Amino acid sequence: MTTAASALKAPAAGSWSSRLMFVAAAAGSAVGLGNIWKFPYIVGENGGGAFVLVYLGCLALLGLPILIAEIMIGRRGGDRPSTAFLAAARAAGLSGRWRLVGALGATTSLLVLSFYAVITGWVLLYGFDYAALAIGQGSEVLDSEAHFSRLTGDARAQVFALLIVASAAFAFSARNAAGGVEAIMRWMGPAFAVLLFLLAAYTALAHPAPFDVVRYLLAPDFAALKPAAFGEAVGHAFFTLSIGLCGMVVYGAYLDSNASVPTLALAVATIDTIVSMLCAFIVFGVAFATGADPAQGPGLIFVILPRAFSAMPFGHVVGAAFFAAAFMAAFTSVIALAIIVSRAIEETFGATTRVASAITALATLSGGTVVIGSVSGAAPIRLFGAPLLDALDAITSSVLLPVSGILIAVFAARALAAEIRGLPFGRALLFCLRWVAPLALCGVAASRLL
Ligand code: PHE
Repeated sequence: MTTAASALKAPAAGSWSSRLMFVAAAAGSAVGLGNIWKFPYIVGENGGGAFVLVYLGCLALLGLPILIAEIMIGRRGGDRPSTAFLAAARAAGLSGRWRLVGALGATTSLLVLSFYAVITGWVLLYGFDYAALAIGQGSEVLDSEAHFSRLTGDARAQVFALLIVASAAFAFSARNAAGGVEAIMRWMGPAFAVLLFLLAAYTALAHPAPFDVVRYLLAPDFAALKPAAFGEAVGHAFFTLSIGLCGMVVYGAYLDSNASVPTLALAVATIDTIVSMLCAFIVFGVAFATGADPAQGPGLIFVILPRAFSAMPFGHVVGAAFFAAAFMAAFTSVIALAIIVSRAIEETFGATTRVASAITALATLSGGTVVIGSVSGAAPIRLFGAPLLDALDAITSSVLLPVSGILIAVFAARALAAEIRGLPFGRALLFCLRWVAPLALCGVAASRLL
């Protein structure tokens, strides 16, 4: 690294206490609503196995190389998104405009936060409902559709949940980043893993034909695949790995310079994929047991699962466990998103971590309240003809993320070429970043137009 670039490297706030802690933190960021809420419903909408196959291909050829690239950019340039890109660009003699990629990632993160925190709030409210039912309080969810409409129509309850989510995230993001994330991952990571395996085991034992679910997820039926599924698979591969938003730039900054980035990235992507597959197994296992249609869209876990929980043995406890696990996964991702936005505010306005985290929490609250207003009908805002929440999800996942992800790929292939070539499978990685990623973007654009 040149001296100019070293001078640019932002003072990283601490470092991971071990490489395992990096894997835990990065997995905490990666595993979230993307795995539990979104993956099952987009698999359901796109007909099962064939989509899973396309998605796994996107993960291997695009997701993993870009994940490696993001971590390396952060390790070289520090935890502030634009500064990190600027440092890596300067060191390679490239234009300083590449810093805009960092700004794009942070802006997209803020957009994601404003709806992600709202859905995390729904998960929390469902968790409260099932915890109450599990101890014999509250009233049974008889009509799960009506229950979900009641929740999404209740602006006050949603703002209350959002307030809890935003202030709890602030409590962790305002601390020295590595320290705050480690503090929560130390217990939430294992607790989440235990709950997930128990739920999967329960589904396998309680389901009349668990292999039907496995077949649905793994046997490809290409006739069910629409062209737009390709764009969806690329966007989701990025979203689920927290790449394209500079999430891994930030966490990579706290990594020591001798760590093998490909090995750690592979561990993170593997954990994320196992969690997604287990979640899909649980969600479809529970849904199929009640004869539900898998193509339910975004309401899948909020409408179909509760119907099944009411009918199954120990359903309330299973429901409480499911929503507790979903909340933990979502919350550690909210923290990751909040940290990206805070770092961007720090570098742009010279704010301290505490002030930047407070501004992020307020921005999440404001953005989230607007989303809640549109969901609950108080202020039915539409964007490009779709309800605000759906529009934000589509714009970030299907447009902004693929664009910023591919820009990161192209940037890394130029700025970090020598370093990447020296890695195990370095040439293949470089090929994916330089050629496959831009081609995929053309593919995504074409699939949108078809
Ligand atoms: N990866 C998270 C999920 O799948 C979302 C996320 C994206 C979190 C970017 C942090 C940064 O839910």
